[in-house]
Amino acid sequence: MTLKDHLHLRGSHHHDDDSKESKESKESQDSESAAKKLFRRLKSGGRSSDEDSETEEVPPRHRSDSEAEVVIELPPAADFHVHLRDGSMMETVTPTIENGGVNLVYVMPNLVPPVTDPAAALSYMSKLKSLSPTTTFLPTLYLHPSITPTTIAEAAASGIVGVKSYPRGLTTNSDSGVLSYESFYPVFQAMSDHDIVLNLHGECPSTPAEEVGGKEDEDITILNAEAKFLPTLLSIHHKFPNLRIVLEHCTTAAAVEAVRACGPTVAGTITAHHLFLTIDNWADDPFCFCKPVAKLPTDRAALLAAATSGDSKFFLGTDSAPHPKFAKQGRSGNNKTVAGVFTQPYAVQLVAEAFDKVGKADKETLEGFCCTFGRDFYKVKEKGIEVEGKDKRRIVLMKGLGEKAVKEVGSGDGAVVPFRAGEEVWSLKWKE
Ligand code: DOR
Ligand code: ZN
Repeated sequence: MTLKDHLHLRGSHHHDDDSKESKESKESQDSESAAKKLFRRLKSGGRSSDEDSETEEVPPRHRSDSEAEVVIELPPAADFHVHLRDGSMMETVTPTIENGGVNLVYVMPNLVPPVTDPAAALSYMSKLKSLSPTTTFLPTLYLHPSITPTTIAEAAASGIVGVKSYPRGLTTNSDSGVLSYESFYPVFQAMSDHDIVLNLHGECPSTPAEEVGGKEDEDITILNAEAKFLPTLLSIHHKFPNLRIVLEHCTTAAAVEAVRACGPTVAGTITAHHLFLTIDNWADDPFCFCKPVAKLPTDRAALLAAATSGDSKFFLGTDSAPHPKFAKQGRSGNNKTVAGVFTQPYAVQLVAEAFDKVGKADKETLEGFCCTFGRDFYKVKEKGIEVEGKDKRRIVLMKGLGEKAVKEVGSGDGAVVPFRAGEEVWSLKWKE
């Protein structure tokens, strides 16, 4: 069975015409069979074959759809911050986008080498498209000294949507990131003129560990790195009020306040995992470690409140960041873990579960945060990026079917552990 065939089986009962067994089954058996296949495919990153028969790994039978405690139907979601990597990792994770209920993704450019020219970005998008043909991929560039106002003009003409800035040395593949924002002001002006979005990884570098003097103005660690960055957000916004800016992966109450304090050209993305995590989670678990790190319970509450508030300044950007399991476990050379939480296969399911904890897993709230607000901010309709109504499918979220997040996606050295692996998750299927 080919990859395409496997994708075809994705949780939808309408897609079972090539599955004789499903045709002949009752609804409950049909759902069981689709779920088993989905799990098998996820475990091997969309590349499994029917020969994969690791029976001990097959999860217990799910309850049938009709037994769901809650059912919510939505249009396909959009995820405005994803890491899809390249090479074999790209092949493993890209086919999982749909499992998370998403049909449009905003793709981060922190590859090795970083994506700094429009042609490279477009060729990357076409590779991704071949791995997930029903997904719309939005290209970005990596803010780099080689980018000039001329590059921005070319980027705008070729359909590049945004430019992502990484503070130098702070996270995965950020060695050629930004040291001084001022030096990019001419580029920001060009971005404003061409209506290209600036995506900010909003953290300041930590005070070097060897500086034992402890000066107050240099008192930066991963715990206050985001708060220390917020004046930079405000000053860039002040200087370029028409430049659309996204403060990526907000993790603090202070970040939420800062985004709110800015004009309508500034928005913030919120990840699914930051709706679950606090410091205690990542302190002893590398699979919960990412940058910016999750903060205090009050910060998490502020994120959840912002995400469920109906304020269109806040929308989903999962920052799903896959790393091989061995690298997360510190076995990739320097005995350190790498930053990133992989949520792609359960993106909307996780958001629904988090919203449910505060009684906000309703259609309107989920649709705003997961489907509408980001698309509006990025002007996907206005710019013809997505044709309204072209993808007529819907996603159906179901609570309480006993589904468990797969333990791994992919295999061998390429295996990636998803967030909350092995724990119960909401279920999601696509409907034509
Ligand atoms: O945790 C993170 N992982 N934060 C980032 O900013 C980058 C990402 C990655 O690419 O792994
Ligand atoms: Zn990211």
